[in-house]
Amino acid sequence: MSSAPVALVTGAARGIGAAIATELAEAGFDVAIFDVIDAAATVESARKLGRNAISITGDVTVDADRKAALKQIESSFGRLDVLVNNAGVAPKVRADILEATEDSYDRVMGINLKGPYFLTQAAANWMVSRRRDGHDGFMCVVNISSSSAYAPSTGRGEYCISKAGVSMATKLWAARLAEFGINVYEIRPGIIATDMTSTVKEKYDKLIAGGITPIARWGLPQDIASAVRSCASGAFKFSTAEVFNVDGGFHLRIL
Ligand SMILES: NC(=O)c1ccc[n+]([C@@H]2O[C@H](COP(=O)([O-])OP(=O)(O)OC[C@H]3O[C@@H](n4cnc5c(N)ncnc54)[C@H](O)[C@@H]3O)[C@@H](O)[C@H]2O)c1
Repeated sequence: MSSAPVALVTGAARGIGAAIATELAEAGFDVAIFDVIDAAATVESARKLGRNAISITGDVTVDADRKAALKQIESSFGRLDVLVNNAGVAPKVRADILEATEDSYDRVMGINLKGPYFLTQAAANWMVSRRRDGHDGFMCVVNISSSSAYAPSTGRGEYCISKAGVSMATKLWAARLAEFGINVYEIRPGIIATDMTSTVKEKYDKLIAGGITPIARWGLPQDIASAVRSCASGAFKFSTAEVFNVDGGFHLRIL
């Protein structure tokens, strides 16, 4: 069994997830990456930091892939301490909710909400059984939601609904897992520079220049990774279901 704590980070081949996995490696975690695309680069950066790392190719929406991922972590590391539900997608087309399709709704809800919900269920059952077997170390789940959990964008309703669902899932799992000493946190990124936002760069450049965020800059994947590291390292042991806005103050209402 790995002597270091082990973190599973979904969607860590690039963007926010890659920064999270690398940051956790730096914090001393061995890391498993679960992504639909190859995550060799992230594995390489974790290994350069002296940690063990594995890449598991699979889809969070597929039950067999989720189970296979956990099995692989069990055979490679023998333990799981932290689950970071980061994988997520925007709609392929930003369509007004008067026009948007059921197919896009099902795709976004499947990847952003249903997949992570059942991955959490499977990982939580493993963590609970480790606790029952006497493991007394810190364990937690970190969900990456979005400011879209509360701020409506009528051009991507399915995304907003999926992220609002992630917020409720955070509360549900926090309530259910507290008795086992497994904490659950939600990180709510604002506008972060990644592939996901590259298609709307001009729009967000203008919004930021116009003052939409009190801290007037794009967020970086590293901003989210630092917050995840704090949660995963047990800095907030007496907090669960806590929401951390990492958004340059976007959530403030200023008069
Ligand atoms: N970029 C932002 O401004 C922003 C803001 C708020 C929230 N978020 C959230 O942060 C998370 C990461 O976003 P990002 O900006 O890094 O996006 P990204 O598109 O750069 O990366 C997403 C990763 O998830 C993986 N992925 C997609 N579908 C998957 C599936 N079915 N199974 C497994 N992996 C899958 C992709 O291959 C990719 O590696 C997402 O949940 C996103 O909703 C991003």
